Amino acid sequence: MRYATITGWGKAIPPAILSNADLETIMETSDEWISTRTGIKERRIAEVETSDMAAMAGRQAIAAAGKSPEDVDLIVVATCSPDTLLPSAAAWAQTKLGATNAAAFDLNAACSGFLYSLIVATNMIKGGTHKCALVIGSEKLHSFVNFRDRTTAVLFGDGAGAVLLEAVDQDEPTGLLSSEMGLEVGTEELLWAPQSGTKTYTDEAIASERAIQMGGSEVFRRAVTMMAESSERVLAEAGWTSEDVDIMIPHQANVRIIDAATRRLGIDESKVFVNIASYGNTSGATIPIALTEALEEGRIEPGAKLVFAAFGAGLTWAAATFQWGDRVTPIDTYDVEFPASSLTGIDIIQANLEYFGRNDVAATSEAAE
Ligand SMILES: CC(C)(COP(=O)(O)OP(=O)(O)OC[C@H]1O[C@@H](n2cnc3c(N)ncnc32)[C@H](O)[C@@H]1OP(=O)(O)O)[C@@H](O)C(=O)NCCC(=O)NCCS
Repeated sequence: MRYATITGWGKAIPPAILSNADLETIMETSDEWISTRTGIKERRIAEVETSDMAAMAGRQAIAAAGKSPEDVDLIVVATCSPDTLLPSAAAWAQTKLGATNAAAFDLNAACSGFLYSLIVATNMIKGGTHKCALVIGSEKLHSFVNFRDRTTAVLFGDGAGAVLLEAVDQDEPTGLLSSEMGLEVGTEELLWAPQSGTKTYTDEAIASERAIQMGGSEVFRRAVTMMAESSERVLAEAGWTSEDVDIMIPHQANVRIIDAATRRLGIDESKVFVNIASYGNTSGATIPIALTEALEEGRIEPGAKLVFAAFGAGLTWAAATFQWGDRVTPIDTYDVEFPASSLTGIDIIQANLEYFGRNDVAATSEAAE
């Protein structure tokens, strides 16, 4: 029987930090408010583009699997912040990787994008059309954040993570055992960036409409339900109980969402991987970054039973059970190196502050409510 299993993993974390204390200097907020309401202490701000981080994380995943870029026959980049709409971030990343034998495309399911991509790539491998797929989540979300809107600006960050998925033929099931992805109709405007595509809302689009806007408490409520219920269904389909789970790797949007969803699922918090304090919500990148760090920290044993769950703009959701293979250490290593720079997080977001300050200081999610 053909399965698709993860043989490599990697991450690219931009060096520039934007802490809660930094945010206190540019908006009315506090470390105390952000920490207790979200669990976030700091986030990373990228100077490089989404595809640069995608290529770095991807290159590390390829090395961890002991492969070379020419072995890859499919690249899927989960992103909602591509360098350009035409071509895709996957196209730029593919050139930077030198992955000359791959088909490549972006998949935008917002924060559920990595799980959507993992499911799609697994099915392409199982279907027999591809054998070696690089699945990447990469985001430069700060481009779509209005740092004059405290209701959204404190939540998001930049970064990338990746896995290499390879075909294996064996009797024993491995890789994704059960999965689902979905979208709740009629919820498009609960979490969106109105002026991020062809849709023109007003004759003279105001700057804040380029930025992410959100009905925070409504998204929160639905997120808990989506993550808990979809996880319950994939667990049941795999024939696992919550006690069978060795580690859960949820999308990192808010530690209170993770706590509420995992409590409902009955998964002990010691089995839930959480790194949101360091990176905030990096959308499509949260799960592959968390998975990579779980491996680096020795939290995943050979043969471990994993559960993934995510939700995001759409509103989309996805969940999956995953049977890990034997190897939990990289075959080879690749050191991710960002271009040398002395800029801090606050330095990098100056252009953003000027853009939103110049065009539309007052319009924020809060003002719109
Ligand atoms: C955004 C979120 C953290 C807000 O937390 P909350 O507990 O729901 O807070 P509320 O929106 O009810 O706001 C409470 C108060 O804090 C204020 N507030 C909002 N952002 C603030 C900030 N950064 N600093 C200080 N105060 C803030 C609000 O203005 C409000 O003030 P008021 O009571 O005087 O009106 C939370 O709703 C959330 O995480 N939602 C989900 C968002 C998400 O996950 N998005 C990505 C999906 S992939």
